[in-house]
Amino acid sequence: MENLLSSFQAIAYILAALLFILALAGLSQQKSAARGNTLGIIGMAVALVVVIVVALAGSGSHLLTAICIFVVTIAIGAVIGVWRAKSVQMTEMPQLVAMLHSFVGAAAVLVGFNSFLATPGANTPENAYHLGEVGLAVFIGAVTLTGSIVAFLKLSAKISGKPLTLPGRNILNLVACIACIACIGWLITTRGVEAGLVPLVIITVVSLLLGAHLVLAIGGGDMPVVVSMLNSYSGWAAAMAGFTLGNDLLIITGALVGSSGAYLSYIMCKGMNRSFISVILGGFGEGATKGGGEAKDYGTHTEIDAEGAALALKNAKRVVITPGYGMATAQAQFPVADLARKLQAMGVDVKFGIHPVAGRMPGHMNVLLAEAKVPYDSVYEMDEINDDFGDVDVVLVIGANDTVNPSALTEPDSPIAGMPVLRVWEAEQVIAFKRKMGNAGYSGVVNPLFYNDNTDMLLGDAKASVEAIIAAL
Ligand code: TAP
Repeated sequence: MENLLSSFQAIAYILAALLFILALAGLSQQKSAARGNTLGIIGMAVALVVVIVVALAGSGSHLLTAICIFVVTIAIGAVIGVWRAKSVQMTEMPQLVAMLHSFVGAAAVLVGFNSFLATPGANTPENAYHLGEVGLAVFIGAVTLTGSIVAFLKLSAKISGKPLTLPGRNILNLVACIACIACIGWLITTRGVEAGLVPLVIITVVSLLLGAHLVLAIGGGDMPVVVSMLNSYSGWAAAMAGFTLGNDLLIITGALVGSSGAYLSYIMCKGMNRSFISVILGGFGEGATKGGGEAKDYGTHTEIDAEGAALALKNAKRVVITPGYGMATAQAQFPVADLARKLQAMGVDVKFGIHPVAGRMPGHMNVLLAEAKVPYDSVYEMDEINDDFGDVDVVLVIGANDTVNPSALTEPDSPIAGMPVLRVWEAEQVIAFKRKMGNAGYSGVVNPLFYNDNTDMLLGDAKASVEAIIAAL
């Protein structure tokens, strides 16, 4: 019976691991993302079932208690999960994700402590190895826990987004890391609960402080990278918990999350022209949120109304739509998709150009456009479309600002200098949608694009403006 159970467990773990890998592969392409998501859900269901079956089989005379614990905890988690998933706004997604990462960190800390208390020191090399795993799980888990809580508080504007720049903060972080590593070494040499608890508690306290300090030092502009970095940490914390529990699937899953989170952070850093190290070391972002360049005078802007925009679109052969954060806040994706369909029906070639960090989270615009049923083959990444703007008749900049700001390429002192942007100004005509002049984008920088001769501003809520264009067409 025991052999049968462990074979069932091994096969189910391999199946779940395969499903997780296929899920990640699916999620890397918009076309296959929904399939990837389904495969991930099936993989997680397989993992949950096998873990529960194995735990119940090992619960002996406590079978009923174990069943009750599983039913109650799963019911509580499911109710909270379904309620949050249904009630969360798209714009609140980053803080929700940050909060979820803190749970993984907390779980790793609890698993570490539990594992330590369940198998206190014995004088064997295996136990030293086990204590090393416990120390690392608690270290990474505690950093993830407080780091994610601070990220949640910053992103939901419950505390200031400004970086906290303590004097010698990098030295403080370094000292905290060295202290934790030294305490893990100390923990390994201890025998017995009392002796081991001292270094373990020191590791916990120091890493909780380290996690909070690391994220407090990072400015608003870099927070999205921090969220994906914490995603990576939560993966490594889960992998460490997998080692302490001797659970291979948790090790594989944790490593997948850890490495994909690290890669996503790298892609985002590239998209925002930031170096990964400078993000981690913190202290940046203050200038960006305050913004520079307000003093510059770019002249006067010209305005257009919905009828004028409709006429320009009617006469155009090629149109590119570059959405940004404003499309998300206005919830304009549905009329935007309708407008694109209407123009396509009139024989106009309509494409969407997506900047990698448009909006407030990776893939934000892709998700909104998919929600509005925009076909994937008309959605282009920045690198795929940037050289084509010269041949475009009209570009509709719908609530985008930083991602289409030419000063990123022309003004070396700009807070977004060097960030790759969509070169929309190369088109014959640009129509930019925003609520009012003077409001800057996320980085706080004024956008000279809005003052170009070939740019016309369509001021007002993006949703209402697009609906008015559709009516005029
Ligand atoms: P932003 O630079 O944030 O500009 C948003 C624009 O939308 C503004 O021009 C704003 O002007 C307009 N807007 C807001 N509400 C609107 C409404 N209801 N109707 C019409 N217009 C509206 O947008 P972006 O170009 O997408 O750039 C994203 C920025 O966020 C980048 O700096 C990026 O680095 C940063 N960031 C990205 C992420 C990720 S991972 N995507 C995460 C966090 C931060 P008005 O206020 O005048 O309307």
